[in-house]
Amino acid sequence: MISTSATTRTQASRHAVKLARAAALGSHSQYALGLRLGCCAAAAHRHQVVSSPRHFSSTPATQLRDFFPAKDTPHIQKTAPAWPHHGYTMEEMTSVVPDHRPPRTFSDWAAWRIVRFARFCMDKATGMDRAQQVDKKHPTTAVVADKPLTEAQWLTRFVFLESIAGVPGMVGGMLRHLSSLRRMKRDNGWIETLLEESYNERMHLLTFMKMCEPGWFMKLMIIGAQGVFFNGLFIAYLLHPKVVHRFVGYLEEEAVHTYTRAIHEIDEGQLPKWADPKFRIPDIAIGYWNMPEGNRTMKDLILYIRADEAGHRGVNHTLGNLNQKEDPNPFVSTFKDRDVPRPSLKPAGYERSDVI
Ligand SMILES: [Fe+2]
Ligand SMILES: [Fe+2]
Repeated sequence: MISTSATTRTQASRHAVKLARAAALGSHSQYALGLRLGCCAAAAHRHQVVSSPRHFSSTPATQLRDFFPAKDTPHIQKTAPAWPHHGYTMEEMTSVVPDHRPPRTFSDWAAWRIVRFARFCMDKATGMDRAQQVDKKHPTTAVVADKPLTEAQWLTRFVFLESIAGVPGMVGGMLRHLSSLRRMKRDNGWIETLLEESYNERMHLLTFMKMCEPGWFMKLMIIGAQGVFFNGLFIAYLLHPKVVHRFVGYLEEEAVHTYTRAIHEIDEGQLPKWADPKFRIPDIAIGYWNMPEGNRTMKDLILYIRADEAGHRGVNHTLGNLNQKEDPNPFVSTFKDRDVPRPSLKPAGYERSDVI
């Protein structure tokens, strides 16, 4: 009798544990992205949960830890960014538009198709459904979709995109640096622009990392993608640097498109958490972009980042038009008879005859 009641109690307590686990998973899945990559729970809004099944773990906002707190040392007061940001006017930032440079050669076309294929994979991997996609006939410029993405889905895309975006500039800068050393020739100003681009992309990533924590699967995907991307770009840049710059130009078109769409959804009131005036953007971003008081909303932050992407788009499309061995970098040059080029407002880049 005693053993029977003990067994019953044990079964009841097991059942209770199961129920508790199920309840925990249920409430947890409110935070879960419903994304196959699984990440960024800090942004997941309780009322905006995607209904697809939860495959990977994510961290609730309450458990989010600071990935990289500033190290407190006995002597150092502050470590400033090595490349201070040049800043933008509001007019410059709001003038950025998503645009597409039509491919003119077979290599242009191939570079563009690779970018589109990567975008297709990204959409699949993040579980973007049909209603969330924009007009397929104008995939790089259309920004209206039947259904918005959630804040968490956006953050997943931002983090993945930015973890990749910081690679090409570093590969290009590194290879041009090594080439200058071994050929004993000057580089004409390309290296710094390329390295600064990769630094700027890393600042984008660090900013978003302050808002979310990727799940283990996403971290694994980022490591794998970096391995493939770095090595692929390394070989490609040695063989065809022009094509790589064109490829990056197209990649940045996608980045401008992504951020323009996010801004549109904030404006439309579809991302209430980010539109909330109490939403605090990370201090690292305020410091890096020197964001003025009163212009520190999530929309402002994305405007800054989008302007950076538009700059990279114009720079890389232009570099893709130049003679890689001889031409100086027009973006760090002074001109005899014309103004300094403004790449963020030149979506298709400058033709060689305009800037050399
Ligand atoms: Fe970026
Ligand atoms: Fe970029």
